[in-house]
Amino acid sequence: MKIVALGGSSSSTSINKRLATYAAGLFENGHVEVLDLNDYELPLFSVDKEKELGQPAIARAFLDKIGSADILVLSVAEHNAGLTVAFKNIYDWASRQHKKVWQDIPMLLLSTSPGKRGGMSALEAAKISLPHYGGNIRATFSLPLFNENFDIEAGKISNKEHDDALKDIIRNFDYGK
Ligand SMILES: Cc1cc2nc3c(=O)[nH]c(=O)nc-3n(C[C@H](O)[C@H](O)[C@H](O)COP(=O)(O)O)c2cc1C
Repeated sequence: MKIVALGGSSSSTSINKRLATYAAGLFENGHVEVLDLNDYELPLFSVDKEKELGQPAIARAFLDKIGSADILVLSVAEHNAGLTVAFKNIYDWASRQHKKVWQDIPMLLLSTSPGKRGGMSALEAAKISLPHYGGNIRATFSLPLFNENFDIEAGKISNKEHDDALKDIIRNFDYGK
């Protein structure tokens, strides 16, 4: 089973990429590939840029990677109570080549932030948008107060309650097509 994990952020130290990587590793019998949004950087989308650039190969490559997954683990980062520009940009570019960007692949949708709400607004924004574009969100989980609840060196959730909650979600994850 191939699990493609990504954080919805281009930060080199992305906490959402860390959370997505950890969560993806919890699936039994999974082979995990972690994407880096920096590999999918394009100019800010506009219809004018699209006229200039057409259908960029980078967006095609993103779609191909998404399409190679049996399970997607996406952890969205929150900027100003919404999705980050880096995530939205590749999402927008990709959607112009293939409307079903997320290709109906069973998805575990996550979010985290240093704040108490754990990026819940970004998670809610993703829950509204993604299903219109092939997003097949089967479960969600948000980790609040990342710096207190995640051990960066160990690469895992340090708070037992949150860790158990995530493990429970993954144990019961329905990945049937
Ligand atoms: C421009 C900007 C806006 C932010 N807005 C929010 C916010 O609305 N809510 C929140 O919880 N954190 C906010 N943060 C803090 C981010 O959650 C934090 O930088 C986090 O590390 C982002 O995730 P990432 O590391 O995966 O990129 C913001 C950070 C930046 C740089």
